[in-house]
This record gives sequence, C-alpha cells and structure tokens, in this order.
Amino acid sequence: MCGIVGYLGEQQAYPILIEGLKRLEYRGYDSAGVALQCAEGMKVIKAKGELSALEQKVGNGAPIGHMGIGHTRWATHGAPSDANAHPHCGCSEDFAVVHNGIIENYLFLRNWLEKEGHRFASETDTEVLAHLVEHFYHGDLLQAVQKALEKVRGSFAMVVMCDKEEDRLICVRKDSPLIIGLGKGENFVASDVPAILNHTRKIYILEDGDLASITPDSVEIFTPSGDPLQREAIEVNWDAVQAEKGGYPHFMLKEIMEQPHALRETMRGRLLQGGREISLPELEMNPQELRNISRIYIVACGTAYHAGLVGKYAMERLLRLPVEVDLASEFRYRDPILDENTLMLVISQSGETADTLAALRLARKQGNKVLALTNVVGSTVAREADNVLYTWAGPEIAVASTKAYLTQLLSLFLLTLYLGKARNLLSRSDLENFGKAIFALPGQVEQVLERSEEIRELAEYLAPWESTFFIGRNVDYAVAMEGALKLKEISYIHAEAYAAGELKHGTLALVVEGVPVIALATQMNVIEKSVSNIKEVNARGGYITCFAQEGTTELQGEADGIFYLPSAPDFLMPIIAVVPLQLLAYYVAVARGCSVDKPRNLAKSVTVE
Ligand code: AGP
Repeated sequence: MCGIVGYLGEQQAYPILIEGLKRLEYRGYDSAGVALQCAEGMKVIKAKGELSALEQKVGNGAPIGHMGIGHTRWATHGAPSDANAHPHCGCSEDFAVVHNGIIENYLFLRNWLEKEGHRFASETDTEVLAHLVEHFYHGDLLQAVQKALEKVRGSFAMVVMCDKEEDRLICVRKDSPLIIGLGKGENFVASDVPAILNHTRKIYILEDGDLASITPDSVEIFTPSGDPLQREAIEVNWDAVQAEKGGYPHFMLKEIMEQPHALRETMRGRLLQGGREISLPELEMNPQELRNISRIYIVACGTAYHAGLVGKYAMERLLRLPVEVDLASEFRYRDPILDENTLMLVISQSGETADTLAALRLARKQGNKVLALTNVVGSTVAREADNVLYTWAGPEIAVASTKAYLTQLLSLFLLTLYLGKARNLLSRSDLENFGKAIFALPGQVEQVLERSEEIRELAEYLAPWESTFFIGRNVDYAVAMEGALKLKEISYIHAEAYAAGELKHGTLALVVEGVPVIALATQMNVIEKSVSNIKEVNARGGYITCFAQEGTTELQGEADGIFYLPSAPDFLMPIIAVVPLQLLAYYVAVARGCSVDKPRNLAKSVTVE
C-alpha cells in the first residue's frame, strides 16, 4: 500500500506534492520521491527513509514547475532505497511513473524489455511500467499507457507524466484506489482523500479499469479500450483525521475491513488460475531441500505466534511433518534441538521484534537456514533471514494486529500447499480443491464483515464483564487464543483461551450464571466433542456464543447465540472464524471507551526484550 499524489495547475507543484504525501505517510513510509515538469525538463528526486529525508535532499532547491507527481512507498518488491523509490523512469527521464499495487508478471516483462534494449535502474516491479510506456510511446501518452496495460497483470493505481506532453497526467486504477480532485484551473490526483482535502472536497473516485487524462482545466475518463465514461463527482465531508482512516473511526476497524484486499494482494502472483496453481517464486529453496525437510520449527511472538499455531495444524495434517511452535522469548533460552533438515520459520509483522530477531540469530548461529514471514520489506528480520515470504497487507497502524495476522495465515497455507506439491504429498485434485478454497476466502471474509452489526450486539453483552473465556478444540483452540488476545489487549477484559476439552479439569469452576463464554466450533471432525463441552458450560449457566460453520445442526438449542460462518475446509476456517472475534474485541473496546488504536502499556513493535 503506497501513497500517490499528483498536481497540475497554476500553483507551484512541489509544496502541494509534499503536503499531500505527508498526509499519506500512514500508507507507507520507507522511501519517497517526486517528479516535476520544469522549464529545464523533467526533474526526479527520490530518497530512502521517511518523507523528511526527501525534504532534506531537496533543501532550498525546490524544483519550479506546475505539474508533478509524488509517492511515499511501502515496499513489496525491492528493499527500501533511493533507487527503488518512486517515481520510476524509463531509459530516459522523459517518462515518470508512480504506482501502488503489485505487477504479477513483472519479471517476464522485465526480461522482454531488456531484450528490447531497455536498461533497468531498480529492483522494483513498478519500473517495468515506465519502460513499457516509453516503449509504446509514439506521440500520445494515453495510447502508450493503454498499450502498456495490455501486457500487464496485477493491481495498480498508476499516474504517468511525460516531458513531451505539457500539463497532462494519465491515471489508471485497477484494484488499488485512486481519486481525482477537481479544482478551478487546477486538478489533483491521489491514492486517498487526505492528500487533497486542503485544496478541494470535490472528487471523482475512479473505478476498476478506469483510465483518466487530466489537464489543469479538464478531466476525461475512459474505459480500458478508450471509450469515454461519465463518472459522478462527489463532495467529501470528512475532516482530515477521519480521512486518514478512510472515514472509519479507528485504524483498527479500517484494517479489519481491509482484510479481503490484503488477502487478495498476498495471494496475487502466488495462487494462480483461480487457485488451481501455486507458485512461490521468492522462495529460493531447491526441490531437494524441500524434500529433505524432516521437521518444521515456527518461532514468533503474540499474534504472530498464534498464526504459527494455526499453521502447525495445517502443516501436520497435510504434510505429515512434525511441527513445533514456540514463543521466541522461550525458544532462545531453552537450548533448542535443531538439525540441518529442520525448516526454521520466524513470523513477524514488523520484522523488528527483539525476541523473534534473537531467535532467528540463534538458529542461524547453529547453522540453520531461516525462512521469514514478514510484512515489512527490508526489515531486520527480512534482511537477516535466508529466505523471505512477504505478506502484502500494507502498513498496519493499529497496535492490535488483524490484517497482518490474516495474511500470515494465508501465507502459511500457501507455503503448506507449496511444500505438499514439492513433496508429492498432495494429489492434483487436492491441490486444486484446496487452492480454490483458499481463492474463495477473501469473498467469505467479506460476507462476515457485512454482518458486523450482529457482532456489535454481542459486544453490548460482553462489555460490562471483567473476565471471559474463549474455548475451542483442535485448530479452534489456536483461534480462541487469538480472539482472547485481541479482546484483552484493547478492552482490558481478562480473557482466557482454553482447550475446550480441558474445561472440566479446573477452569469450569469459574463458570457460573451469566459468565460469557465464546465457543469456537468450526472443526467438523470434533463437532460432537465441542457440543459436549458447550453443554458443560450451559449446565453451569454460562452465557455461550458459538461460532460454527453454516449448516452445523448439532448446535441447535445448545448456545445462547450462534453465529454461522461460511464453510471452508476445516484447516482453512481460522481465516474466517477470527474475523468476528476481531470485530468483537473492537466493539467491546469502543463500548468501554478504550484507546482502540493505541492501548495502554503496549507498542506496535516490541523492539526491546
Ligand atoms: C498483536 O495484536 C500484538 N500487538 C502483539 O502480540 C504482536 O503480535 C507481537 O508483538 C508480535 O509482533 P510482530 O508480529 O511485529 O513480531
């Protein structure tokens, strides 16, 4: 997720670009850059680091020009650096492109362009767009962009400028947001509303496939094939703070709602042909190495640890490999037993968690290769691991991790299918069936998000309580742990996750009339056992809300409330089942007046031991 800003009109473009990028820093902040059309030609300035690094680089020499584009980056392909920062140019500095999204077939396009004589200056997927436009440019920028896009697969919000065409920007929107701000004798383009709120509240929201040609006095919108389109301009009534959260009251709710998009972006280029093919090109492990793996060791903290627990169930079930999951803070002090055939996997959203980093270093010191699963390109974990599988959730601002967790689960499932295929453990039809089921997950998460009001009602009941239990069997127990952590960390209610089969061994003593119990019962292979545990709670007067797959008739009359979820293979259910638990934690925290995005005593990234 990156931030894009563009301007053309009577004002100086540079200050407008910088101001807009500042308001988009929540979308990405590992590098930034601007390109301006100046009297002496195109001027491109880029810098690694936060926006302030770019401003320092420009100093008092702000380029003079009335048209420009700017970008603040959240890296996906190519670590943060000056060279990898946007805008990207072709072989000449006549063309500049800023982009938000993922070009799935960028390697293929890059190889083709290099054979056509193009020379690349960065490691990014985006740079191929600049060279493609340059390649197809024969005097009309809109046509060049249309031709270029015929070759591109992926997601892109893109703005292109050309030094040969004064006062004209070409914009495209597919899967990543892009809006056009309408002014008088000037126009704006941006990834999101906050960037332009100080200049205009009248905007076009481009729709998937829209192409737009913008001048200071006109905005023309077209279909991909060039047919003119009419879009209704809307008036934005958000204030700047609301706008930064996309109109949501908190980043956490925004990030919960972004999860279908985050899942789609994370599977992009990896789960192909509607789920019938799996590919992890970034995993540099040869087939023999993959077949030699005799054990998997997952190490992480907090929510990332809970993701590892879910991954364990999937991996053990499909790969028949022993999988150990350990808290990083424990792993590093218990002299772990690793051998050359142990696949060491560390999971970290931030890629900076001190305990996880220490565990990675310990494993590498013992000669183990480490695969990292992280959301931040160029993070310390990413740089020190031997292999990296990125989640593409975009920046996660709220302390409580949601979309990063979901994309961690997805990445673990993709890795499991990939290993299953490499080790010839999964039949073609299994691979296709599981792949299609994974491909369907974003839509199923959307179905759950559409029912968030039902969860808000449950939150009203839970909010006054000071303690509660989350119970589940099998992988539902791992999901219960994540649900309990979400509730604890933002509502401050003492929530405990328990293996449902363990209740009668002690904890049931705490279940009395009205005590809220959240029961996960999505695992059909143990549904009868789950029902009997729910009966145990029922018999003591607990107030049970159950989350189960639609069509689970065994639960009728057994719980005070049942929230039926879209069905998926058991081992995939955590991606669907955790969403109502995230919403529950969110609404309870709001009802209790807690600081949802920045809960007390906690930090987004725990870089100390
Ligand atoms: C998750 O909601 C918490 N904020 C916390 O447990 C977090 O998951 C943990 O600190 C690990 O962070 P990491 O994924 O960045 O390593």
